[in-house]
Amino acid sequence: MADPITPVLTKRWLSPNSWRLSTYEQLEGYTAVKKALRKPPEQMVALIKDAGLRGRGGAGFPAGVKWSFMPQADKGAAKPHYLVINADEGEPGTCKDIPLMMADPHSLIEGCIIASYAMRAHHCFIYVRGEVLHCIRRLNAAVREAYDAGYLGKDILGSGFDLDIVVHAGAGAYICGEETALLDSLEGRRGQPRLKPPFPAAAGLYAKPTTVNNVETIATVPYIVNGGSDWFREMGTEKSPGPKIFSISGHVEQPGQYEAPLGTTLRELLELAGGMKDGIPLKFWTPGGSSTPMFTADHLDVPLDFEGAAEAGSMLGTTAIMVFNETVSVPWAVMKWTQFYEHESCGKCTPCREGTFWLAQVLERMVAGKGTEEDIDTMLDVCDNILGRSFCALGDGAVSPIESGIKYFRDEFLALCEDNKSKQSEAELVGAKA
Ligand code: NAI
Ligand code: SF4
Repeated sequence: MADPITPVLTKRWLSPNSWRLSTYEQLEGYTAVKKALRKPPEQMVALIKDAGLRGRGGAGFPAGVKWSFMPQADKGAAKPHYLVINADEGEPGTCKDIPLMMADPHSLIEGCIIASYAMRAHHCFIYVRGEVLHCIRRLNAAVREAYDAGYLGKDILGSGFDLDIVVHAGAGAYICGEETALLDSLEGRRGQPRLKPPFPAAAGLYAKPTTVNNVETIATVPYIVNGGSDWFREMGTEKSPGPKIFSISGHVEQPGQYEAPLGTTLRELLELAGGMKDGIPLKFWTPGGSSTPMFTADHLDVPLDFEGAAEAGSMLGTTAIMVFNETVSVPWAVMKWTQFYEHESCGKCTPCREGTFWLAQVLERMVAGKGTEEDIDTMLDVCDNILGRSFCALGDGAVSPIESGIKYFRDEFLALCEDNKSKQSEAELVGAKA
């Protein structure tokens, strides 16, 4: 049995009224911000760098390094620059930021204050996906509580530091989770990715330097301020330190959010989640949502950290583990994911707009038993023309399930074609008899 870690980010989740300011304060809440505001901002940036905190939105970019891109005290810190929280959690299977904001919104707000202070930013926006109205209401209520208690607004806790937080509701487009499309949407335009570089650090919201961080990344900050970088590094691996919230869904006995150190394996996580549902064996799984290449039962012992997942041929992504047992057809699952990418493609660039459309058409034909062996090569060829040739990561992500599905389960795709062939020859026989 895997050792469950002492909960860090999830420690308040089961407390009664965990989302209220009073509960948060009783359970060590807002103690980190008091410490942080007594120290120079650059010391906070150095602390997060030392801790090795990496972005929890999927890409794993070092958070402290990102913060250090913001204008420094001697260079333009007085000009507007922004912290934007990417709370547009949309990757299929990912369900960690919304539960975090529902159960413990003040940990995000406290993290926002410390991060803004470290970067000398005075405006912070939390961009939440529009469908989760309940979460938006809860965040707004928590922000109001924080203003009333003097944690937000002018001269926070007598420190002389001012910060305003605005909770902004998106309209439910997957592409608005891509940071530059998010910024366009926040500015009131149709959300479509911008060309990078310039990265938001140089020209982001309203063309000003902007740090875009994920919810879980920023909610981790208060714990590092209280615990220190050495404490943080005791968890996880050398290059991927700290705890992480894994969302586990699909054919397990107890789907849900499980906090574990980075580097934990699926074998260990499955034990925490009660094992495979009804004991039916595992067939395939995603380590970080559908945009990350799938794994199989041969990958149960891959360490789930940024390096381990990459070395085994996939990506850690959002640590959204979707588990499928032997009853699930791989081509069917791949078709469902491809239909999602086709629907969510923003249409800006041709490889993704046209490619996802044609891939979905071919997969639908194949799953309907009307595919040919040639279709497999056609799909791989289309994938080759999307991967690395699309404007943003959505295109690359759309390729992952198809390429990895064919890599590990080519026989299943072939079987659909062979079925088709046998049906054809049967039809030919019937035709000949007639
Ligand atoms: P990226 O690697 O291009 O960038 C990561 C972050 O580092 C960005 O904030 C970027 O601005 C910054 N950055 C990178 N290089 C920089 C440089 N030279 N100078 C300044 N800043 C720099 O990755 P991207 O496209 O932002 O995210 C892709 C990831 O998003 C995927 O790995 C996927 O797992 C994840 N994702 C997450 C979703 C969710 O619901 N949380 C949805 C879809 C994808
Ligand atoms: Fe839009 Fe897809 Fe191109 Fe990204 S890759 S810009 S989602 S069309």
